[in-house]
Amino acid sequence: MASASSCLSLLLVVAPASSASAQLSSTLYDTPCPRALATIRSAVNAAVAQEARMGASLLRLHFHDCFVQGCDASVLLAGNEQNDPPNLTLRGFNVIANIKAQVEAICKQTVSCADILAVAARDSVVALGGPSWTVPLGRRDSLKAASTSMVLQNLIPPTSSLTQLIQGYGNLGLNPTDLVALSGAHTIGQAHCPSYQDHIYNDTNINQAFAASLKANCPATGGSNVMAPLDTTTPNAFDNAYFKNLQSQKGLLHSDQELFNGGSTDNTVRNFASNPSAFSSAFVTAMIKMGNISPLTGTQGQIRTTCSAANP
Ligand code: HEM
Ligand SMILES: *[C@@H]1O[C@H](CO)[C@@H](O)[C@H](O)[C@H]1NC(C)=O
Ligand SMILES: *[C@@H]1O[C@H](CO)[C@@H](O)[C@H](O)[C@H]1NC(C)=O
Repeated sequence: MASASSCLSLLLVVAPASSASAQLSSTLYDTPCPRALATIRSAVNAAVAQEARMGASLLRLHFHDCFVQGCDASVLLAGNEQNDPPNLTLRGFNVIANIKAQVEAICKQTVSCADILAVAARDSVVALGGPSWTVPLGRRDSLKAASTSMVLQNLIPPTSSLTQLIQGYGNLGLNPTDLVALSGAHTIGQAHCPSYQDHIYNDTNINQAFAASLKANCPATGGSNVMAPLDTTTPNAFDNAYFKNLQSQKGLLHSDQELFNGGSTDNTVRNFASNPSAFSSAFVTAMIKMGNISPLTGTQGQIRTTCSAANP
């Protein structure tokens, strides 16, 4: 695993999130598939009960889906892109496949894979103690994966500066508050050593004892099988500890600590660290905005029967 993973962002101008969101509706499946949402929820709860980290992995799948080519389940298509650096550390594909099989068993070709990702992300956050929200629905599934060049070109690595992060999110219609709130997703889950190596060995804006404890397991080169929690305090709880960690220079990724490094987002970090409900409400707002990025609607795309491949 070379440069490990990254945050993805479209550099090209895309349709503003608001134009498409009007076409999504939270009650879409009430009549054609009344048990759809409960089926997704119980499957997510079972998966998270078996392994808490799966909640983090499912949340991240929805994020990666939305940031490249819009929320169209392109991230689930198995193909030539599977070795793109940002995809190497994605997981949870089997859980999504299992949910899709259960939903297909009750309602054939009705619920899209892109909507399953959005609902599973919300249910994962709730399962780990975070806020709940109503998920707008009606995203259809893409026929094709994003090309390798598009994925690589649109990559914002964890080595990015605050300016680069703000710009990348801005291109997707997400403001700096959304950036800070969404980064709060790093209150759960794990990262591999190559993703934080540079930060712990070369950056100076890191707590020295924290850096030393990470270096004990993560060597300066290699270490691709070593992992550490993104939130060192409460790795399996969706809470606001991530922001308190940033205040004590215990962000795991360079891009995490950039949010509290003397720049324009410091006050937002302080607010979310001291006020859990301010974080919850900003996170919900930003998740809904992210879930509205360039969906396929109406007659665009299709409802896949299997999430890993377009329909024959
Ligand atoms: C600038 C933005 C971001 C960057 C640079 C970034 C980067 C990363 C990296 C490098 C990892 C670890 C990958 C690995 O080494 O295994 C990671 C994990 C994760 N990211 Fe992000 N990320 C960003 C934004 C987001 C957003 C917006 C979300 C969700 C709303 C998110 C959710 C997660 C989660 C939950 C994990 C842990 C996954 C697991 O344990 O399987 N990230 N991210
Ligand atoms: C890799 O990621 C991109 C964008 O996130 C997606 O379009 C592509 O289908 C993915 N490929 C696999 C095999 O997951
Ligand atoms: C630290 O920085 C040096 C000089 O830029 C670089 O050669 C080295 O690979 C970096 N170390 C890590 C662990 O990233």
